[in-house]
Amino acid sequence: MPFSDRALDEIKDRIDIVDLISDYVHLKKTGQNWKGLCPFHSEKTPSFTVSPAKQIFHCFGCGSGGDIFTFLVRYENLTFPEALRMLASRAGVTLEEARKSAAGAGEKERLLDMHRHALEFFRHNLAGNQRAAEYLGSRGIGTGAQKAFSLGYAPKSWNGLLSYLGRRGYKPEAVNKAGLAAKGRGGYYDTFRDRIIFPIYDLKGDVVAFGGRSIDGSEPKYLNSPETPIFNKRRVLYGLHRAKNSIRETGRVLFMEGYLDVITAHVHGFPNAVAPLGTAFTQEHGKLIKRFTENVVIVFDSDPAGIKAAKNAAGILFESGLDVRVLSLPAGEDPDGFLRNRGREAFAGLLEHPLSIIEFYMMQGGDKRLTAREAIETISRVQDKVLQGEYVKMLSEKLGINEVFVMEELRKKTGRTGKSYKTAAPGAQARPAPASRPLYEEYIIRILLQMPGKAGEVFNVLSEDDFRDEAARGIFRRIREGTHGLNELISMCGDSERDLLTRISLADDFEEPEKVLSDCIKRLKDNKRRLLLQEIQKKIKDAELKKDFDLLRNLQRQQQEILSRRAIEK
Ligand code: UTP
Ligand code: MN
Repeated sequence: MPFSDRALDEIKDRIDIVDLISDYVHLKKTGQNWKGLCPFHSEKTPSFTVSPAKQIFHCFGCGSGGDIFTFLVRYENLTFPEALRMLASRAGVTLEEARKSAAGAGEKERLLDMHRHALEFFRHNLAGNQRAAEYLGSRGIGTGAQKAFSLGYAPKSWNGLLSYLGRRGYKPEAVNKAGLAAKGRGGYYDTFRDRIIFPIYDLKGDVVAFGGRSIDGSEPKYLNSPETPIFNKRRVLYGLHRAKNSIRETGRVLFMEGYLDVITAHVHGFPNAVAPLGTAFTQEHGKLIKRFTENVVIVFDSDPAGIKAAKNAAGILFESGLDVRVLSLPAGEDPDGFLRNRGREAFAGLLEHPLSIIEFYMMQGGDKRLTAREAIETISRVQDKVLQGEYVKMLSEKLGINEVFVMEELRKKTGRTGKSYKTAAPGAQARPAPASRPLYEEYIIRILLQMPGKAGEVFNVLSEDDFRDEAARGIFRRIREGTHGLNELISMCGDSERDLLTRISLADDFEEPEKVLSDCIKRLKDNKRRLLLQEIQKKIKDAELKKDFDLLRNLQRQQQEILSRRAIEK
């Protein structure tokens, strides 16, 4: 049975691995992943992990792992075609349809081939066109970047591409279907004429579409390929193919608006930049990003349209489970212009302190209440409860109003899921928590008070050293040493511990304590790892200065280990 990879992808796209495995294994959400007892070996504590972002499973106990197909083959002892049949029917496609989509995969391969040829044509034409090269030069894009992004040029001709492809066996109808030719009264003609060509790559590294910018000011400024069987705008980000490694390494992605912003960012040493294609921006883009990082910095044009787009993108990205910051450029500038006018250092400087979403809203000016409302709408979409709590706190501090009122508004927005965000009762704000205390430390104590039964589980993963704040650490220690109940704790504590205890005990119970707890633990581990990485990076610099290469190698190995462990857990 000739099922191509793409046919398998079809089925994979339709079945979520968490859904599938949940039918066989009891899974519980912990942080980004789901965990359960491994069905492939016997164990008492769950080390079988399922990642929804990566659509894979892995058992850290016995080492087995794979995708939906592997899982069924192993679990049900099936042959691959049997597993395929089961999954096809689960996906709601019959085998007949699956075969057809395998045939469709043939069509996709042909489309990809045509795009490869078209790219050759465009690149060849850029090499021979003075005007196009000059235009790119005037925009600061030299030959290096032209090569890196495989830029091309579509000549001023009605049938240049059509005849080039025709010589390679592609009929005009096929070129038209691929979006590379249009149909007029006189027949077919090239879609892209006299334009700089930006090939658009998918994650596998195949060219799936083109964007073309006019050189002579004619409209539209940018022309993009239409959607085809190989090109779905909602699922492609410009530059991601080149940016993904740097996104992993730097731990964040720079989200820009245009092709040229992305290229200029790369040229200036910021290879972790990507852009959506045109205006459409979706949760699918968010999911795509999430495979590489959870941190997004939005760097949009600093004009009313860009600001509006940034707010919109922030909400969608939060909903995808990402954390979002915003880089605020001087009014009227875009990343491309800023980088070229003010240079790399200036941009790096801004990047050191991107604005939190709250700061971004508050700097907009205008009616304070309206802004607050908008901001609350956006933070109501934040998935991580601890993070959301932090934003609520920030917003109430900035507005000088009680957290309770912010919560109240938030609850109106979020409905059911929002109910767990109550934190403090009226008046409980009187003495706010010291800024140095991470909110999750406070949340962990609250959970220990709310659900003493969880204590064992918490002590398994956390120790005193994990707490940065002295008061929180002290309370944690006392609970671990066997002091139970609020009253007993209060009677034994020092001042700062008591202040913390009384304040948090006035707060309502969390309605989804388990989710809050797993968010807290994840946060704590992330923080610990970040500090460790910073320390190692400092030592690496030292070792480099001292030219101690043995030590350097050792440190780099440690760094790599931490990075890859982080990648696995994400
Ligand atoms: P911009 O107009 O900000 O483009 O649109 P830009 O990248 O800054 O380009 P330059 O600097 O003027 O050359 C941002 C993005 O919106 C899409 C393109 O993806 C563009 O990169 N766009 C814009 C279109 O699809 N069509 C258009 O007509 C304009
Ligand atoms: Mn722009």
